[in-house]
Amino acid sequence: MEQSFEEIRACVFDAYGTLFDVHSAVGAHHERLGPFSESVSAMWRAKQLEYTWLRSLMGRHADFWEVTEEALDYALSSHDVFEAGLRDDLMHAYLRLECYAEVPAALDRLRSAGMKLAILSNGSPPMLEAAVGSAGLTAHFDQVLSVESVGIYKPDPRVYRLATDALGVQPEQISFQSSNGWDIAGAASFGLRTVWINRFAQQRERLPTGPDVELKSLDSLPGVLGLGSP
Ligand code: LAC
Repeated sequence: MEQSFEEIRACVFDAYGTLFDVHSAVGAHHERLGPFSESVSAMWRAKQLEYTWLRSLMGRHADFWEVTEEALDYALSSHDVFEAGLRDDLMHAYLRLECYAEVPAALDRLRSAGMKLAILSNGSPPMLEAAVGSAGLTAHFDQVLSVESVGIYKPDPRVYRLATDALGVQPEQISFQSSNGWDIAGAASFGLRTVWINRFAQQRERLPTGPDVELKSLDSLPGVLGLGSP
């Protein structure tokens, strides 16, 4: 077991990109986007995140549903895609994203070992409720925490404080999992223990704080936390 993970009482997960495959929304309608599918999906995600950071800096918060719609509009019009109904179908698909294959079993193992489990996400409460429910994960989580409680996006420290406040534990008692390197940097800067789920074989961010541990998927998380193998 990693030295810094001895005190862990709770596992907190980023939602989009970590538990849920954001590209499965375009994947559900890829035949309608043809050769643009991958590029639209990548631009949609990149703009969505960029808009959260910009809105936070500007003090102009809007919820993640609105930001996600605005990012999709940008991505579709950048590719000259104006098919009637496609925008609404893609947004609807965001409520039914696929979870990554290993997620249910990894959560089961953590939960049966007595860990408290929570989601901490930019997503609005209705978006998170829909995605968690559609993936059949509702019963796995003690808490589903949304930035809407503080009205600002990650990586503002007030967001990560939501987790310590809601779970009633110290920052170093939380293991925070995210596939987003910048989210890991924000959580580590606040004081959480961090596990970067580097699903996409990305470079480490050049930011002041980094992950305690890097994994390829959630499969090996129980082992890292000293909870044994399956
Ligand atoms: C979230 C984004 C960062 O779920 O993916 O908070």
